[in-house]
Amino acid sequence: MNDQAQELRNLIRHRANSAEKPTRILAVTSGKGGVGKSNFTLNFALTLQKKGFKVLVFDADIGLANIDVLMGISPKYNLYHLLKKEKTIWDIIHKGYNDLQFIAGGSGFNDLIRLSEEQLDYFQEQIGQLNGHADFIIFDTGAGLSKETLKFIVAAQETIVVTTPEPTSITDAYAIIKMVNSMDYDIRFRLVVNRVTDWREGRQTAEKISMVAKQFLNLDIPTIGYVLDDAAVSKAVKKQVPFTVAFPSSGASKSIYDLTDDFIANQRPADMSSGAVKGFLNRMIKLLK
Ligand SMILES: Nc1ncnc2c1ncn2[C@@H]1O[C@H](COP(=O)(O)OP(=O)(O)OP(=O)(O)O)[C@@H](O)[C@H]1O
Ligand SMILES: [Mg+2]
Repeated sequence: MNDQAQELRNLIRHRANSAEKPTRILAVTSGKGGVGKSNFTLNFALTLQKKGFKVLVFDADIGLANIDVLMGISPKYNLYHLLKKEKTIWDIIHKGYNDLQFIAGGSGFNDLIRLSEEQLDYFQEQIGQLNGHADFIIFDTGAGLSKETLKFIVAAQETIVVTTPEPTSITDAYAIIKMVNSMDYDIRFRLVVNRVTDWREGRQTAEKISMVAKQFLNLDIPTIGYVLDDAAVSKAVKKQVPFTVAFPSSGASKSIYDLTDDFIANQRPADMSSGAVKGFLNRMIKLLK
């Protein structure tokens, strides 16, 4: 093989390797609190990871540690240390069960709204490094529409709304969808119905929300799936071990596996835009300024 051809081949190989893998950013939220967002986020992330995807979970619940408590870990560094420029993005990524990567928000969120120009630049540059680092970045947000949660929802552009079949949870889920939608951001919503007694109840709950959203907001809201109400979840929470790890053959775990399989099968490559982290950051920075 002549040198030139080899050089060209090396160049192409190098380009192929350095091409950024698209990162998909999801925010998980709910209208009502305590519907199972954090448990869903954690176990969905672990299952996606088991299927070969690289996942990073970002605990974006202001003040309340969720993900780390569910794993019985107290992370040494969080977003606060990044914003204070004491740590890099890589220092604040911790490893949980099955080496799941996660970032704790900690008290950092309170500082996020009053950053200096210099801090904002550092934040942007550091978070920007995550592009291509993971296939999925999943934000677990607080319930209801706080100012901070709204920023993550808007910046992520794809939101999983978790509800239970309880009427109050359904109306609150619809209320948050309606509110975000009225702000005219181009957000894609998907539903997860948690704590169902059977599939029928899950389907009926999802239909209630999607029909009203179609009729009054002209929105199509697909459902990702349903998770069974299962005593294994609360047992796992008490053990501080994710339920898919503590009770892998429980009903709740099986629901998560099915739901994840469907999610992977139904995701079209068009859903994955490269430079997602950059887009996320641009929207976030705009909202912070
Ligand atoms: N599928 C399930 N089956 C049975 N119980 C569940 C299920 N999902 C959640 N729970 C119960 O609900 C509790 C709250 O779950 P979780 O902390 O995930 O909710 P959350 O929506 O993140 O709450 P918050 O709004 O406070 O952040 C769990 O500790 C567990 O007891
Ligand atoms: Mg939570």
